[in-house]
Amino acid sequence: MKADPTASVETQIEGLSHDGRGVARIEGKVWFVEGALPGETVSVKRLKGRRSYSTGVVDSIIVKSADRVKPKCGYFGICGGCAVQHLSYAGQLDFKKQVVSDALVGAQVPLPDQIDILSADPWAYRRRARLGVRYVPKKGGALVGFRERNNSYITGLESCDVLVKSVSDLLPSLRGLIEQISVRDQLPQIEVAVGENATALVFRHLKPLTDPDRDALAAFGEIHQTQIFTQSKGPKTVTAVWPTEPDSLNYPLEKFGLTIEFSPVDFVQINGAINEKLVETITSWLELNHQDEVLDLFCGLGNFSLATAQSAKKVLGVEGEPSLVQKAELNASRNQIQNATFRTRDLFDDGIADWSEGNFSKVIVDPPRSGAREALKRVVDDVKPEAIAYVSCNPATLARDSADLIESGIYRLDRLLVADMFPHTAHVETAALFKQIS
Ligand SMILES: C[S@@+](CC[C@H](N)C(=O)[O-])C[C@H]1O[C@@H](n2cnc3c(N)ncnc32)[C@H](O)[C@@H]1O
Repeated sequence: MKADPTASVETQIEGLSHDGRGVARIEGKVWFVEGALPGETVSVKRLKGRRSYSTGVVDSIIVKSADRVKPKCGYFGICGGCAVQHLSYAGQLDFKKQVVSDALVGAQVPLPDQIDILSADPWAYRRRARLGVRYVPKKGGALVGFRERNNSYITGLESCDVLVKSVSDLLPSLRGLIEQISVRDQLPQIEVAVGENATALVFRHLKPLTDPDRDALAAFGEIHQTQIFTQSKGPKTVTAVWPTEPDSLNYPLEKFGLTIEFSPVDFVQINGAINEKLVETITSWLELNHQDEVLDLFCGLGNFSLATAQSAKKVLGVEGEPSLVQKAELNASRNQIQNATFRTRDLFDDGIADWSEGNFSKVIVDPPRSGAREALKRVVDDVKPEAIAYVSCNPATLARDSADLIESGIYRLDRLLVADMFPHTAHVETAALFKQIS
């Protein structure tokens, strides 16, 4: 008789995958089990069977991990926004350290003696988010929230414990607002950006809005004292609705006396408290002095450039997005920083990157998930700085690029830290300091 593939199976969980699922081995096959923690014995219900692995979800827990905690949020398990709320916060930090060390060891990168941790309040930290919107009359109207875990449905959130509280508090009224809009079934998302001075919401719409729609959006903005923008196509179509001439958003880097301005669709680091600590760490790791020329690659709005410029002879920030380069220049002049300049370059294109105008002793790289392989090759071949500080949002590309640096024979990994930028999610932000082998 054939085994029933829908029946639950009992198994022991051996580890945690990089996306926060329990890893088990059942009849020689690897299973990724949602909701399970290492050391637990659980009963698992199968979700999908693939040739090389299966996925499942915990049906019941037979032996519980000492690290298991009750998730704070009632949507946990359904909402795809968080992955590891069932793991104690100390356990989450250990998990993230393990992900980084596994990735680096797997790429044969010798580790420093310890992996440091940067952490801050793990709740209400998220100042930037893209909320999905669906109008589903069958489910009672508009749903606003993050995607569900295993599908593209939207979790209708009434609150969210990781979003900045003022934004979480807006969620119930946002549902009502969406329902008033004539093209409510053509509003796929709302971008959220929270500055120190104001909060902004950008409503993406696929069909034109009517005048009453704009009036409803403006009234919402005024009542909730929230900047409202609409966006019909790309970032250039972002248009202010309320107020019609809004102030730029900004965030402080207090220890440096800096205020960084940004617009609601610009890249900013998601967690303000961790960002400030990260900027401090990078500047201190680099042991800057006033002879140092610093190259800040993937510099965005100048987040690292302006802070490092205060202790260096000069800084050149390089960034692919021209509007961010413009804002970095503006941020330098608003903060009276005269020794930072910025260039627009595609840093994935070897041929275009050109930073020959400096004699750079220190380099910062903070690339997108795809990493900085090409840019680092140019750094090693043409610049050979004393130190390279690498900020990464993807342990896999960090490991690949670190292996290249080690293989060059010029650099060793001197410091490594996990910055818990995204508590309760499986995202891992890392900083690594490479120094020349003396
Ligand atoms: C992780 S963000 C870091 C931004 C900045 N360092 C900060 O702390 O705010 C990565 C940056 O890389 C930029 N970027 C992405 N692809 C690029 C490319 N091909 N060339 C140059 N910059 C790129 C993005 O626009 C973004 O600003």
